[in-house]
Amino acid sequence: MSKVSIFGLGRVGLITAVCLADRGIEVAGFDVDEKKMAQIARGEAPFYEPQLEEMLKKSLKTKKFTVSDNPVQVIGKTDTTMIAVGTPVDRFGHLNLTFVEEAAKLVGKAIGKKKDGYHLVVVRSTILPGTTLSTVRRTLEKASGKKCGEDFGLCMSPEFLKEGTAITDTLKPDRVIVGAYDQKSAAHLEKIYREFYGENPPPIVTTSLSTAELIKYASNAFLAAKISFINEIANICEDVESADVLDVARGIGLDKRIGSQFLRPGLGYGGSCLPKDLRALLRFAKDADLDAPLLVGVGKVNDTRPVRATKLLEKSLGDLKGRNIAILGLAFKPETDDLREAVSIKIVKRLLRKGASVKVHDPVVEKQFREIFGDRIYYSNSAVDCVKNTEGAIIVTEWNEYTHLKPKDFTQHMKKPIVIDGRRALNDPEWNNQTTVQLIRIGAPSKDR
Ligand code: UGA
Repeated sequence: MSKVSIFGLGRVGLITAVCLADRGIEVAGFDVDEKKMAQIARGEAPFYEPQLEEMLKKSLKTKKFTVSDNPVQVIGKTDTTMIAVGTPVDRFGHLNLTFVEEAAKLVGKAIGKKKDGYHLVVVRSTILPGTTLSTVRRTLEKASGKKCGEDFGLCMSPEFLKEGTAITDTLKPDRVIVGAYDQKSAAHLEKIYREFYGENPPPIVTTSLSTAELIKYASNAFLAAKISFINEIANICEDVESADVLDVARGIGLDKRIGSQFLRPGLGYGGSCLPKDLRALLRFAKDADLDAPLLVGVGKVNDTRPVRATKLLEKSLGDLKGRNIAILGLAFKPETDDLREAVSIKIVKRLLRKGASVKVHDPVVEKQFREIFGDRIYYSNSAVDCVKNTEGAIIVTEWNEYTHLKPKDFTQHMKKPIVIDGRRALNDPEWNNQTTVQLIRIGAPSKDR
């Protein structure tokens, strides 16, 4: 069995670690954040992800997963090192490679001290095409005093994990990408994946380092494009008598060439990945003097979604100044406590600019929202409390508990029951043919619009 070390115990690194350990592969982890490492060593997951904490506890108990603050020791007892550190992007799309370079330096130094045998370095961080071959390889060679392709191997293997289903996505991926510097590196990583996936491995696509890097960006850009596409169709549906975007999505999605996933209409995509990766790819194209009108359009459509939510409200309610508005759902998607690039932030900022009073509710996110808005808004401890005395409500995140809300949950408490269902979340049969709530659903015709 292979022995793998992982540098960077964030979402990707830690989830990869516990999954590898679960399948019997010995994993040693390292992170520059000592507090986080201590927390992990105690069996506490530093972020929420279903199944993670129990798998972490188990892997520590069986000693298949260990953490150490000594990178030389961590690398010394393994034959492969994965780099899974963050790659933040500024608002202009410039990628910050500091963490990748620092990790490569530490890994390089440790490889330099290793006496025995060949070592494979695998980049799992999302970085732009060409970065592994140039920056990472050069940093590793300089820090180790060794030669890539001779003394150590180099691969780039992007991750495709979604928050909320990251464990299943790792254990049962649709495919695995092995971008490799040379054949020896590819064979080494393919062997690890075969050990990990056993009898039924997913398709493995072996390619160059830069192609692997681009596959990650193209994949996220395509997913973002699907979402913006269906949101644009949703706008059209709203102007057509009796056209419903959910039926359009089903009707086109059953065509295998199109596929049914990522066609859920809404108020736009958020999170730490799709917006950031699209921005970085656009910047990459711009710096290379390339036009990318399709990708530019994908971002533009997404930027209009929060505006659309408030416009729909204004259409029914008029001027928002002095109005009480409820926001249901703050996280960038359900089943996560993540607020990064969440649409809710943009909508609340817009409402405040327009002079509205805002009440918010989310089943898990509150503290981080308080850090942004402080006491400028009111925080409710239930959906019903949130809509109390308001004149308009917007469903921004489709948490399960909102999908069960009925018309009376709004009529009994709101001053004026106007509800914008920004995620097509309300699906209780009582909503069919009801007339007590003025319900405006994204992508559905509305008599009142
Ligand atoms: C995304 C990709 O889906 C993963 O494959 C990728 O590995 C990950 O980024 C990454 O690069 O690390 P994630 O950001 O966790 O995963 O979340 P998604 O499930 O993709 O959702 C992103 C946003 O799109 C959310 O705001 C969600 O509400 C929205 N969305 C998603 C829609 O509006 N409609 C859909 O049909 C699907």
